[in-house]
Amino acid sequence: MTMAQRLLCQSPASPPVFSVGAMPVPRPGKGEVVLRVEAASVNPIDVKRAGGYGQRLLKLKGAGKFPLVLGNDVAGVVESVGPGVSAWRPGDRAFGLVPTGKGGAHATHVAVEARWLRPFDDGHDAAALAALPYSFTTLWQSLRKAGIDEHNAKGLAVLVHGASGGLGRLAIQLLTRWGAAVTAICSTASLDTCRALGATSVWDRTRQPLSGLPQRYDAALNFGAWQDEETLIGALEQGALGFASTVHPLLANFDSYGWLGGAWQTGCDLRRCKALATAKGANYGWVVFKPEDEALDALQRLLDEDALALPVGISVPLSAAGQAFAHVARQHPGRAILLPSAA
Ligand SMILES: NC(=O)c1ccc[n+]([C@@H]2O[C@H](COP(=O)([O-])OP(=O)(O)OC[C@H]3O[C@@H](n4cnc5c(N)ncnc54)[C@H](OP(=O)(O)O)[C@@H]3O)[C@@H](O)[C@H]2O)c1
Repeated sequence: MTMAQRLLCQSPASPPVFSVGAMPVPRPGKGEVVLRVEAASVNPIDVKRAGGYGQRLLKLKGAGKFPLVLGNDVAGVVESVGPGVSAWRPGDRAFGLVPTGKGGAHATHVAVEARWLRPFDDGHDAAALAALPYSFTTLWQSLRKAGIDEHNAKGLAVLVHGASGGLGRLAIQLLTRWGAAVTAICSTASLDTCRALGATSVWDRTRQPLSGLPQRYDAALNFGAWQDEETLIGALEQGALGFASTVHPLLANFDSYGWLGGAWQTGCDLRRCKALATAKGANYGWVVFKPEDEALDALQRLLDEDALALPVGISVPLSAAGQAFAHVARQHPGRAILLPSAA
């Protein structure tokens, strides 16, 4: 029997404790494709989950129990296709999303629903592609929650917190392309990067308190820190479009306060912030990543137009996964990529 390997995160720990374990190569179920994984990214959520974050709520998706196989992004080569799949053949190259709770991309082989994959050719680098689907999909969902789309973005003043990170960089690139004026909040070292990506103005969060932001924004995206949520909502102008956050405390509340306490605290947090946004006339929403066709289609179009990229900071084989996780935990620049098929 041909064997595959996967990165097992044994028990909640920070830094994480890994082992590389053997498993049979998965067989594709109905509607699935098995990929030989060339590249899979390590996102901040992987680092947090390796430390035990989100276990209570994620158990509902079958994604909270250790040992965990993490990873939501994948790029690789189709090895086999399951019943009902006509769009893919062995040897095709594909990139896309592995939903949370469905096996995890940090492995040499993974079974993925064919609908979450898109093709790529030899002109594209698997590592660069694997950096994108999860972050782009989350960005796409954030823009929708904030009420921003390609058709209304032109001329909007949009505030982006966490602008130098993966979601933030994609937000600057996409919003600028759509004609919005982005104010990027980041630390000093990243000011020039955010300007170069297209931000119209920058706000150095390490030198200027966010309480000094003018109240003039049509929309805001918080990819930086939950503790700044209310201050950022305060920077919306009256009659603003909306506000979306990916750094909300949903998972942490259930971890910290249990089922009842977590639900109660989450209700309080959500209502408090929603009330502040509503007082400005703005929509308000928390984003929880989930795979989406529309986002993957948009990503593919933008890649065809060479309109988006995230720099890769580190690429390592599964056996050196700890380095990639440390890279993300220390917020070093560039995305972290695992190369499971590398020797
Ligand atoms: N809810 C969801 O479904 C979902 C999905 C994807 C991501 N996320 C979360 O969204 C956030 C952004 O994701 P990402 O991939 O863009 O992360 P990332 O690449 O690590 O970027 C986050 C950026 O936030 C800034 N930052 C870090 N600590 C901060 C602090 N204490 N206060 C303000 N800014 C801070 C940093 O830039 P500067 O130092 O330059 O400011 C950093 O580059 C992460 O927390 C991630 O876990 C949530």
